[in-house]
Amino acid sequence: MKAKIALISAIIFALTSMYVAVSKAEAGTTIKVYSERQPFLIKPLIDQYEQNSGNKIEWIFSKKGLVQKTILEKDNPVADIFLSADIARLIDIAEAGANVDIPIQDKVPTNLQTQDWTSLTMRTRVIYAHNKLNLNEISYEDLILPEYKGRVCTRSGFHPYNVSLFSALIAHHGEEWFEDYIVKLKANLARKPQGNDRDQIKAIYAGVCDLSIGNHYYYFKMMDDPNQKVWLDKVSPIFPNQDSYGSHVNISGIAIINAKNYDASLDFLEFLLSDEAQEIYANDNNEFPVNPNVSASERVQALANNAKFDPIDLQEIASNRKAVLDILQKINYDG
Ligand SMILES: [Fe+2]
Repeated sequence: MKAKIALISAIIFALTSMYVAVSKAEAGTTIKVYSERQPFLIKPLIDQYEQNSGNKIEWIFSKKGLVQKTILEKDNPVADIFLSADIARLIDIAEAGANVDIPIQDKVPTNLQTQDWTSLTMRTRVIYAHNKLNLNEISYEDLILPEYKGRVCTRSGFHPYNVSLFSALIAHHGEEWFEDYIVKLKANLARKPQGNDRDQIKAIYAGVCDLSIGNHYYYFKMMDDPNQKVWLDKVSPIFPNQDSYGSHVNISGIAIINAKNYDASLDFLEFLLSDEAQEIYANDNNEFPVNPNVSASERVQALANNAKFDPIDLQEIASNRKAVLDILQKINYDG
């Protein structure tokens, strides 16, 4: 009799848990995310969100073309959200009218959001220098000095990270100045632009060049990678332009691109700005949180050492992008 009761309760228990599992899955919404970045960077955030909300995140990754895809699909969107590692892509989407307005977020400084998109994190474009140069100070403008002829490496000038930096240079100095600058920068290159940010640091380590430009968080990614850590024996990041307008800052951000799944999408967006999620961004990704309640990780703070950041408006940077692309093309920067 006892065994029978145990068996029956076991069956009831199994049925109840099955019911709970099914109803939970039904309650959850699937939020589709377009991203040009691999999901692993933000995986801890997705896991946390799925656990908190019962919603599911479906990650659609492609290395290229998602902005164009979003714009083509704007009347019948496939994805709900566009996650971007750069301001330019968010502006392209907004200019094409492929996004849905979002409320102004009280957790984000006003200069880092519009009703079209909001920033999630900030990243600095620093200069990586060979330690033998013994530099404490350097500026983006210094990269064209004659003494650095054949000693600079960069990735493609057309990569959004560089386009954003170059757009800021136009904002500070004007187009004519920039055209002269970029010709001289090309003349100072040790090799044709190639690879990603980390490949430039590898090239400094390998003796190909002495200076490069890269985002600050790659320093920590290399430090945490047993194969890349050794590069940092010879190379150090410097926050540029501390004697002038400060180091260039770009953002990662988010736009909602589908009205149909709006509530769930906004819920995910607000989660990414929560103290909890911003802590994960700060500590796992070593980016600067936009939410002022959350500080950068200790090691980021130690590296940045209260560095001054360029306060220029992101919209102004965005407005110079076309001029940058035209000049890069004209002088064939990558060729
Ligand atoms: Fe990156």
